[in-house]
Amino acid sequence: MYILGIETSCDETAAAVLSDDFTIHSSVVLSQDEIHAPYGGIVPELASRQHIKSIGYVVSESMSRADLELSQIDTFAVTQGPGLIGSLLVGLSFAKGLAYTFGKALVPVDHLEAHFYSAFIENRDIPFPALALLVSGGHTALYLLETKLTYQLIGKTRDDAAGEALDKIAKFLELGYPGGPIIDRLSEGGDTQRFPFALPTMSDGSLDFSFSGYKTAALRIIKQQGIDKTHPLLKDFLASFEISIIQALLSNLSRAITEYSPESLILCGGVARNKKLRADFLNCAQEQGLGAYIPSPSLCTDNAAMIAALGIDKAASRKKMSLALDLNAYARR
Ligand code: KG4
Ligand code: ZN
Repeated sequence: MYILGIETSCDETAAAVLSDDFTIHSSVVLSQDEIHAPYGGIVPELASRQHIKSIGYVVSESMSRADLELSQIDTFAVTQGPGLIGSLLVGLSFAKGLAYTFGKALVPVDHLEAHFYSAFIENRDIPFPALALLVSGGHTALYLLETKLTYQLIGKTRDDAAGEALDKIAKFLELGYPGGPIIDRLSEGGDTQRFPFALPTMSDGSLDFSFSGYKTAALRIIKQQGIDKTHPLLKDFLASFEISIIQALLSNLSRAITEYSPESLILCGGVARNKKLRADFLNCAQEQGLGAYIPSPSLCTDNAAMIAALGIDKAASRKKMSLALDLNAYARR
């Protein structure tokens, strides 16, 4: 069985073909970074227009790389939400058109569930219960997975997402967009202790995150020390800022491990590409004696392979699949 996944929730137009054993036959991601870079962030109107321009090309490219015809696809999977509503509607409408044309089932997929599903593409036997730390540009959350398809949200950010905080500081320093990978690169070898970012955790004992305080503290240091993109301490400043965010993420993860005693840990989402976070997450898992699973970098940032993978298991778990032409997109859960 072949499944075509389509993802257009934010600023990447993506399509991927997988077979039901999770073999990736193709995975095409067309980034809009260059379009949004001059604005230092995503412009929703530009994003949806660009998806309209790209979706046909991206889908046909994914089919030719997989060496298949659309008529050979058994099921279509598409991101239904959360995300930018105009962007989501482009992928959803396109997928409905394909399902209708070829008379095949359409499986709607939740973008956040798909992010932690990215870990199952390369590891089919992750032990449960598993704790999944999802760190992206739009979301930062902790999930307890009882099985692959049953889970509960146990912590989420109350303000900015971790990736958003990195992107905003990079924008303020005029380092470029998206800021996360730029900070990852520029902070390498920097002194993580040079600037203090010690901030309190949630006083109510919850597993929620908050990153707006880190952003405010960073802006204060930037102003006080006159940090700009040419400052000799830029590397140390970025390394200190980055480590403070990583420590906030891993401190909540450690508390969640104590509270829920999982069998394994998953790290996913775009920020999971960060080299320091990947290393510190693996150290944390090793200290706790737990298996740790981090998808390959290309499966961490938005992609359609994770949409198709979740679509495969969702389709298999349902008795009857329909064309589902009345599906609507949702911006939030
Ligand atoms: O998962 P994703 O592609 O999109 C959302 O669903 O939000 O995540 C994008 C986020 C951006 O904030 C970007 O700056 C961040 O992932 N990111 C990184 C790295 N690569 C991407 N953050 C830190 N280090 C990286 N290497
Ligand atoms: Zn995402």
